[in-house]
Order: sequence, then structure tokens, then C-alpha cells
Amino acid sequence: MERKMNRKERAKQERENRRHNISLLRTIPYPDHQKWWSSETVALVTGANRGIGFEIARQLLLQGVTVILTSRGTEVGEAAAKVLWETGLKVVFRQLDVTSTSSVQTCADWVQQNYGGLDILINNAGVNFNASSENSVEFAEQVIATNYIGTKNMIKALTPLMRPSAAGARIVNVSSRLGRLNGRRNRIGDVSLREPLECVDSLTEEVIDRTVDAFLEQVKDGSWATGGWPQTFTDYSISKLAVNAYTRLMAEKLSDRPEGKKIYINCCCPGWVKTAMTGWEGNISAEEGADTAVWLAFLPDQSVSGKFFAERREINF
Ligand SMILES: NC(=O)c1ccc[n+]([C@@H]2O[C@H](COP(=O)([O-])OP(=O)(O)OC[C@H]3O[C@@H](n4cnc5c(N)ncnc54)[C@H](OP(=O)(O)O)[C@@H]3O)[C@@H](O)[C@H]2O)c1
Repeated sequence: MERKMNRKERAKQERENRRHNISLLRTIPYPDHQKWWSSETVALVTGANRGIGFEIARQLLLQGVTVILTSRGTEVGEAAAKVLWETGLKVVFRQLDVTSTSSVQTCADWVQQNYGGLDILINNAGVNFNASSENSVEFAEQVIATNYIGTKNMIKALTPLMRPSAAGARIVNVSSRLGRLNGRRNRIGDVSLREPLECVDSLTEEVIDRTVDAFLEQVKDGSWATGGWPQTFTDYSISKLAVNAYTRLMAEKLSDRPEGKKIYINCCCPGWVKTAMTGWEGNISAEEGADTAVWLAFLPDQSVSGKFFAERREINF
């Protein structure tokens, strides 16, 4: 007799079915009436020399938009662009280190001069220095500087360049479920740290920065382990929690722009992906991991903003 699946097995099965359905959806071309974009549409992807970022760039190119593949290393970025050119995808390469405000500004100026603006910004660049059950905060400053401050640098420099259009410009922040405020397993235990980030109405950049700074202070004085922070990949989780909060804050700030000048901003979790970041230990490919970010970038009639997505579905912050 067949054994009944338990809850965990059922959830796993549902996730696998969902991923299978999405991989089928990816093969269906967008109908012409839903295509708000053209070859004149300009997209920029950060950290796109490898992994999920490279795949996001490739999938955007397959839809026929102009893609600027950026990477902090020139050689690796040019090599990645060459791989795409060899398959007939005419990508544009530009060096960009998201932690350097001068690099970000130089890139923004170049985009303005060469394209007159931007339609899609994908903030994908990220770092994580922990593997499996490790939880070192040795590189906490770099993790926060890249994942959170780098994303902020990009949004601040590029938002003024987002071009007016009927469909609206789009910003997608590649984040992680580890940064959920109310995730069952990895939430901030300390209510006084969690609550100010929960309420969108009272959320400010200062509140987010204060949370991140409080953590970095505790890393310096060695008290972080008992500070009530997430227990898994603490520095990385806090950086993504800050990205998620900043996404909601920016959505709120951008929400009063008039029709024709809308900018929609959302964040997503790619899943656990086989890339260098996970030591190729994930359970899905980079192609699958890139899917939700690309889907968000192309959403027809998009009016959704300030939300968190995974596997093409909204999830809780
Ligand atoms: N893999 C997963 O399971 C997973 C899960 C959840 C979320 N994510 C997120 O998905 C995104 C992509 O990760 P991945 O798995 O594709 O990892 P990856 O293969 O390590 O790629 C990360 C990319 O970010 C770039 N980068 C790092 N620091 C940068 C900087 N200062 N300026 C510009 N680019 C920089 C890296 O460049 P270099 O090659 O020069 O290092 C690399 O291109 C990250 O934001 C990550 O947090 C991944």
C-alpha cells in the first residue's frame, strides 16, 4: 500500500511541481500585446559576470531588450559578455563596483550619456562568506557594504535616470528569504529591533541604517551572538533584511509619481541556487534562480510595488 506523504514531503512535492510548471512557463513566448518592451528598452544588471546575475542578463537578452552586463572585475565581465556574444546575444559590458560611490556615479553618467536613461535595474550583486552551518561575522562590514549599501548606492544614483514610460520603469532587488522579518526559523528575536522595521508607515532610511549599525557595533565589541539577531548566516541575513526594508521604503517614496512616470520596485528570493555562493550546493540551477527577477522585470501591466516574491508568487516579508 502506498504510504501517505507527511506535511514536509507534501510541501517539497508542491515546490517541485511549482518549479516544474515555471520551467514550462519560461518556454512560452510573451504574447505581443503583453510586450511593453522593445530593443530600445535598456536594462542594467549588477554582479552579472557569473551565477544568477549572468543568467538574469541572458534571460533579459532573450526577450530582445538592450542589456548592460556589469561586473566589478573587467576581465571576468568581458569574458562573460563574450560567452553571450558567441551565442548571438549582443550584450554591452560595463565595469561597476557597487560598493564604490564613484564607480556607481561614473556608471550612471555613462548610462545617461549613452542611452539617455534606464528602464530596468536589477540589483543582483551580493556576497556571503559563510558555508553550511558556519556563522562567522569576520566579513560583516563587507557583506553589509555590498548587499545593502551597494543596493542603496545603485538605487540612489540610477532612480533619477529611470525613463518615463506608460508601463513604468522597474527595479528588482535580488534578496533572500533569510532576510524575512517573520520567517519561522530565522527571525530577529529581539522585538525592539524587529518592530520598527515591520511598520511601513513609520519606516525610514534612518531606522534601517540604525538597525544595521547596531549589529555592526556589536560585531566590533563581540556581543552580537547574544544580541537577538537571526541565527543563520547572521551578517548576510541582516543585509538582506535591510534590502527588503529599503525596497518597501522606496516603493512608498516612489508611489506618488504620476502615471507615465511610475517606477515599480520589488524584491525577490531566487531560492537555493547552485552557484559559487553556495559552493554549487543549491537545489536549483542558475537558470531557475534567475526566473522570478526576470518575470518581475517584464510583468505586463505592472502596478505591484514594494512586495517580496519567490517562485513567481508573493511571499511575506
Ligand atoms: N545562490 C543562492 O542560493 C542565493 C540565495 C538567495 C539569494 N541569493 C542572492 O543572489 C545574488 C546572486 O548570487 P549568486 O548565487 O549568483 O552568487 P555569485 O555567483 O557569488 O555571484 C555574485 C555576484 O556578485 C558580484 N559582486 C560581489 N561584490 C560585488 C561588488 N562590490 N560590486 C559588483 N559586483 C559584486 C560577484 O562578482 P565577483 O565575481 O567579482 O565576485 C558576482 O558576480 C546575490 O545577491 C545573492 O545574495 C543567492
